[in-house]
Amino acid sequence: MTTTVTAATRQYPPGLAGEVLAGYGDRVVLHDLYDAVGAPVYHDLAAADTSEIREVLRVARAVTGPVLELASGSGRLTLPLLALGRGVTALELKAEMLDLLRERLAAAPAGLRARCVPVQGDMAAFELGRTFGLVVLGTTSVSLLDDAGRAGLFASVRAHLAPGGRFLLSTVDMVDPEDESARATDLDIEGQGASGRRYRMIEHWPEGAPARRVTILPPAAEAATADRIEVLTTSIRVLPAQRLERELADAGLRITARHTLPASGPRHRDVLLEAEGV
Ligand SMILES: C[S@@+](CC[C@H](N)C(=O)[O-])C[C@H]1O[C@@H](n2cnc3c(N)ncnc32)[C@H](O)[C@@H]1O
Repeated sequence: MTTTVTAATRQYPPGLAGEVLAGYGDRVVLHDLYDAVGAPVYHDLAAADTSEIREVLRVARAVTGPVLELASGSGRLTLPLLALGRGVTALELKAEMLDLLRERLAAAPAGLRARCVPVQGDMAAFELGRTFGLVVLGTTSVSLLDDAGRAGLFASVRAHLAPGGRFLLSTVDMVDPEDESARATDLDIEGQGASGRRYRMIEHWPEGAPARRVTILPPAAEAATADRIEVLTTSIRVLPAQRLERELADAGLRITARHTLPASGPRHRDVLLEAEGV
């Protein structure tokens, strides 16, 4: 969805991002991070992001059978999984993201492309009629689902695990207690996509809040001279690992390993939970 932000509609994100956008006035056009304008920016940033890949591949090598990747996006994890020589079903909600994945597959070797089955679907309720040796949900994307959505996700995953199969999902484990910036409500950083383009990213996360709001906009110098300022925003639920472990247990999924991930951002530590059906 695309919305022109005006002071009258007051649809600015909360905190620092809202203040910055208010200063830009009616040049601002707001998008969801995963819509037609947001998806290529997400893809540009994702293509420069190698987090979790090594850890996911290490677990994938240790289990046999085909792989189901949920919320696969434009294929940041899908392509490395395919490169292991395994069949990968890539399930994704948004057509725009699946189109980007298909573009990447089209440029990949034919053998690798042939092993991938892209599927448009909702990870909160899916029925693929087969089972998998490994189900992967990376990039802390479990946080995109509400309580009912996660219950549906875990039941669907349980039904798609082959005997001895593993479910691997990442989540934000904790805030780094050593990091001063971890206690700040707004984190304002600049990052670079695979294309070389630079982005300003403002994360609004009041202490104890159940969600953080991420807003991506052009760096200040670029925005100063732009006639139209495309701004992308998304809200990300904060789901501590302990809470997910309880929910997984309720769904008949037992934790077999916890893999600590290198810091994914300036103030988060993530963890990869590995579970099996009981
Ligand atoms: C943070 S991105 C991660 C994409 C990819 N795994 C990566 O590492 O780049 C989250 C993805 O989840 C997708 N998504 C959101 N809700 C979903 C749902 N209910 N079912 C399947 N995919 C969903 C979004 O469209 C987006 O592509």
